[in-house]
Amino acid sequence: MPPKDPDPENDRQPTSGPADSSAEEGVSEELTADVSAESQESVQDFLGEAAQQNEAANAELSSGESNPSPGPASQSDTSEPYIAFVHVYKSFGSLDVLNDVNFFVLPGETLCILGRSGVGKSVSLQILMGFLRADKGEIRVAGENICGFKEDQLQAIRRKVTMVFQNGALFDSITIGENVAFPLRERGDLAEDQIQQVSKGLLEMVGVAGMEDLLPSDLSTGMKRSVAIARALASQPEAILYDEPTTMVDPLMGHLLGDLISRLKKQLHLTSIVVTHDMRFARKLADRVVFLHQGEARFFGTMEEMDASEDPVIREFLSLDELVLPV
Ligand SMILES: Nc1ncnc2c1ncn2[C@@H]1O[C@H](COP(=O)(O)OP(=O)(O)OP(=O)(O)O)[C@@H](O)[C@H]1O
Ligand SMILES: [Mg+2]
Repeated sequence: MPPKDPDPENDRQPTSGPADSSAEEGVSEELTADVSAESQESVQDFLGEAAQQNEAANAELSSGESNPSPGPASQSDTSEPYIAFVHVYKSFGSLDVLNDVNFFVLPGETLCILGRSGVGKSVSLQILMGFLRADKGEIRVAGENICGFKEDQLQAIRRKVTMVFQNGALFDSITIGENVAFPLRERGDLAEDQIQQVSKGLLEMVGVAGMEDLLPSDLSTGMKRSVAIARALASQPEAILYDEPTTMVDPLMGHLLGDLISRLKKQLHLTSIVVTHDMRFARKLADRVVFLHQGEARFFGTMEEMDASEDPVIREFLSLDELVLPV
């Protein structure tokens, strides 16, 4: 429903090619089960449109049609990665944080970044968003090397890739409803009632119903993070980067946020990177994991491969996790 398609043919859902299956599968009622009847259709249409766009963009990258590049040497698939770190270095003064780091995320996949405090997990996300610059190496996002990009080019990338910060990073002086409406207004093609319905419905979907008129300072950490996810979805991104989305909230909220991220991944064909300390969450979500340790990507592969790793550093990390999570 949201953007009025000038071509009436396109109103008939599946168009052609691999985007076809997305509309029905893309956004099931389950995802929008908590959305009120009044907003449900708007939200389903809005997310269905996002799912189709993402599926089409992923298919294009997978077929290598857009700007084919060699990608990192370890790449095990013929797809062009959506995101890749290729021999990336980053220091702050004498502190070498990233030292020849390589990893990639294929279109529609989820990578979990693991590692102890201070190893450069958040720095890696900030480099991907262009908030920090790498000293050396190649940073590929959406098929482009963003190193050397100017601010306006980075802003174009940030329309495709959005980040959910730990504290939400909401605009403090405007209401929750306006925070979510912001990206909807920016695109300039939606009527006011559509903006209201979609933003209200997205808030209901992430479990923050009826709080449109509150300010961010009125909300708990977990609620702010939920709002940040709703705001991210309002920009119909191709990829979302989450920095520790399930920590610093109570276990139930952590579970709800984790569940939401997992459903969004599947239904919206989102490419995601999730920084997390929560191994159970990573096991549920990750197509691949990268374990950062002392400046290097000490492990990069699937969770099964990590479990089978004989690297003592990895074994120690996994055994410590068993101590923390005895169930
Ligand atoms: N802008 C900056 N200027 C100087 N040093 C920085 C900057 N940002 C990060 N660092 C340093 O880089 C290192 C990695 O930081 P980062 O925030 O990426 O850690 P992290 O892996 O996310 O840890 P945590 O799990 O605690 O969030 C830290 O030693 C940090 O102090
Ligand atoms: Mg961090």
